[in-house]
Amino acid sequence: MPVVIALLNAFSGLAAALVGFVLGHQVLVVSGCLVGASGLILTWIMCRAMNRSLLRVLFGQLGAAAATLTDDGRRAQPISPEAAFYLLEAAQSVVFVPGYGMAVAQAQHVVQELANLLAERGAEVAYAVHPVAGRMPGHMNVLLAEANVPYEQLLELEEINAWLPRVDLCLVIGASDIVNPDARSNAHSPLYGMPMIDADKARTVIVLKRSLGQGFAGVDNPLFVAENTRMLLGDARQSLQALIRELKAA
Ligand code: TAP
Repeated sequence: MPVVIALLNAFSGLAAALVGFVLGHQVLVVSGCLVGASGLILTWIMCRAMNRSLLRVLFGQLGAAAATLTDDGRRAQPISPEAAFYLLEAAQSVVFVPGYGMAVAQAQHVVQELANLLAERGAEVAYAVHPVAGRMPGHMNVLLAEANVPYEQLLELEEINAWLPRVDLCLVIGASDIVNPDARSNAHSPLYGMPMIDADKARTVIVLKRSLGQGFAGVDNPLFVAENTRMLLGDARQSLQALIRELKAA
């Protein structure tokens, strides 16, 4: 939908520019071109971040290739906040990966509170921000800024992916598609080729979401059943509050 809005916005600018040509009105031509060009650039950036052509974004269908999570007998490994506390306590480096579920749960303030607690205990803390996390451009940046997360803790895709293999703990907060390893390795997945955050490469991953359900693309996520992943099931805000309680009680 944001891509469609950006495209229609671009068309409105181009239409204004054309009217400017017909009427010989230079201001209309210049402003129409600016609106048209910026809309087209935004459309192109969003399509590139999803690794899909504009036609596939507008007319393509997602989710047709959904596989079952337990095809090969693998099961997700649940974890309680009490057990997750020990992983948090031991981690020297922690990366938070916020996704659409963080926005739904309005969990940005508790994420920041948890990050501060960990930083006070000496852990190195950062946030991995995917360009299409959430449902609109800059969705996560807006929410994290609202929670006063320091700008220098926000790392972009390339930077965070270079660091993740050396990170002790990666906390995925209500995200699915942006951390789906199939985007990297499964040519049959509709997500294949989309740039992703390599959360699965961290030493341990804790995924906070309410179920093993799929994300926006409607495909299963092998990260949820990976050997080094633990699922902390429940509303993201409540799970984070439980983790904060554990840390404060320690
Ligand atoms: P998604 O893949 O949509 O995953 C979000 C996850 O959040 C869901 O699997 C859901 O799982 C979980 N969730 C929902 N409510 C929750 C809650 N209260 N507490 C905890 N978890 C909750 O999100 P993503 O990883 O951010 O990826 C974004 C997707 O949207 C991409 O496919 C992208 O292409 C697409 N998209 C992005 C944009 C822009 S511009 N950002 C625009 C349109 C589409 P449960 O139901 O199991 O909790």
